[in-house]
Amino acid sequence: MLNRHEIFEKNSIVLLVGVLIVVAIGGLVELVPNFYLKSTIEKVDGMRPYTPLELAGRNIYVREGCYTCHSQMIRTLRDEVERYGHYSLAAESMYDHPFQWGSKRSGPDLARVGGKYSDDWHRAHLVNPRDVVPASIMPGYPFLAKTRLDIRQIAADLKTNALVGVPYDEAMIEAAVADLKAQADPENDGVDGLLERYPGANVRDFDGDPKMVTELDALIAYLQMLGTLVDFSTFDAKADVNIR
Ligand code: HEC
Repeated sequence: MLNRHEIFEKNSIVLLVGVLIVVAIGGLVELVPNFYLKSTIEKVDGMRPYTPLELAGRNIYVREGCYTCHSQMIRTLRDEVERYGHYSLAAESMYDHPFQWGSKRSGPDLARVGGKYSDDWHRAHLVNPRDVVPASIMPGYPFLAKTRLDIRQIAADLKTNALVGVPYDEAMIEAAVADLKAQADPENDGVDGLLERYPGANVRDFDGDPKMVTELDALIAYLQMLGTLVDFSTFDAKADVNIR
């Protein structure tokens, strides 16, 4: 046996080919089972697509590069769960295109930041983080409060998401602009329709400026729903066949 191994040790090309074969076998063992799984994402109660306003806020989150400092994935490690809450489920980012798991945490994970602070806090923090967290190194985004949200693309945006599998139906796409406006204005007639299409959505004037729907409205609406859709008092990971 040892003698036969000599051929690998004395001939680098043979060694290389041998390494490739072994790595290929390892790769296949990892990859092939995935093709036989019905789904890699477990179904979880409470998940719904983003409302148009939240989706617009998410676009601003991506545009401003918030993901370069913030992750949105709580790992199954004790310190993370104690700090941020229940570890993230695959289903919680199933409607994210692209997902915002991130790879760097200069700031805290935001997967469950929804409901952690008031809208006022977010408003102050996004305009100038140092007003509420004196040692913060996060940049301020004061222009968001002054910029009217561009809603011309929102229906097309829902449509595009529907193309890649997000369950936005015709009615949702048609009502996109109306739903967006309704969510930022509790007085709006369209609130009932919005809540029918997106159960449990937060409806209020997020940025405290009733005169117009700003980019800050959208971003805060997005932040305030992050990680709040799944009810973890009833979620049972052991009942889930994909987690072993
Ligand atoms: C240069 C890195 C950086 C960027 C870019 C950045 N942040 Fe932050 N963020 C931080 C740091 C550091 C903290 C912790 C200190 C603080 O609260 O300000 C933080 C805190 C936060 C918090 C509070 C989290 C908590 O649980 O206390 C929120 C919400 C937040 N950021 C949102 C955003 C959003 C939205 C954007 C994009 C518009 C953004 N951040 C961009 C670094 C960054």
